[in-house]
Amino acid sequence: MSTDRRKDRIARAFSSHAGAYDVAADVQWLVAQRLADRIAAGALHPPARVLEIGCGTGFLSARLAELFPDGALLLTDVAPSMLARCQARLGDRPRYMLLDGERPEGIAERFDLIGSNLAFQWFVDLKGGLQRLGALLEPGGRLAFATLGKKTFSEWRAAHHALGLECGTPQYPSMDDFPWPPGLAHAMDEELVRQPYADGHDFVRTLKALGASEPAPGYRPLPPGPFRRLLASLEGGFTVTYHVLYGEIRA
Ligand SMILES: C[S@@+](CC[C@H](N)C(=O)[O-])C[C@H]1O[C@@H](n2cnc3c(N)ncnc32)[C@H](O)[C@@H]1O
Repeated sequence: MSTDRRKDRIARAFSSHAGAYDVAADVQWLVAQRLADRIAAGALHPPARVLEIGCGTGFLSARLAELFPDGALLLTDVAPSMLARCQARLGDRPRYMLLDGERPEGIAERFDLIGSNLAFQWFVDLKGGLQRLGALLEPGGRLAFATLGKKTFSEWRAAHHALGLECGTPQYPSMDDFPWPPGLAHAMDEELVRQPYADGHDFVRTLKALGASEPAPGYRPLPPGPFRRLLASLEGGFTVTYHVLYGEIRA
């Protein structure tokens, strides 16, 4: 399958759900706050130039704007309607750019800080993307991000496997096998965020409302019968793990 077609589908899904995103994005909001706190704690000097990748509707962007009132912000996303929502939230102080964050070749500037909250899990080539973003850092600059790790949605996977069904959740890296690009100093920390859902329907509806329902490459959605059995097995409420990896690269 063409990676460009997959990327187009991801961009279209996020764009067409931009209006519903904020209401459904409890976990994304929480992780954006945690990432912003980490960025603030690690900032030796206020960054003059800040780039954000996959800004969405602006959860992290709003914190970056508050934390660094004199910084020049460039906010980017691959989904036009997400970017438009971000602009509606933050107004004209930042600059905005439609950008595939793993192919930032069109950007000629260098940055003291690059931030990204829960966008890198959508990259097709994470190692190459991080390498290219690392090359946009000024000497001493930081790339600080949150992305999803291996244990994400483990309860959803287990419910599939208990019924002998294949699960479409993409494979995410762990701290141990994270694809760091060579030659750049890095560090990582992790957190398990447990989010309760009323039932399987509620979980699926939430992913759809976020625009985050593109499955792993090559996955074929379950036929209606097995899907109904899966949802029936999750009636009565269940909790889903979001395994969050907080990473940092320093130039
Ligand atoms: C789960 S949302 C997170 C949005 C925002 N950072 C937040 O914290 O709410 C993922 C975002 O990443 C964007 N995205 C996905 N793939 C991307 C890519 N290759 N380059 C840039 N943005 C991307 C999506 O359009 C979406 O806005």
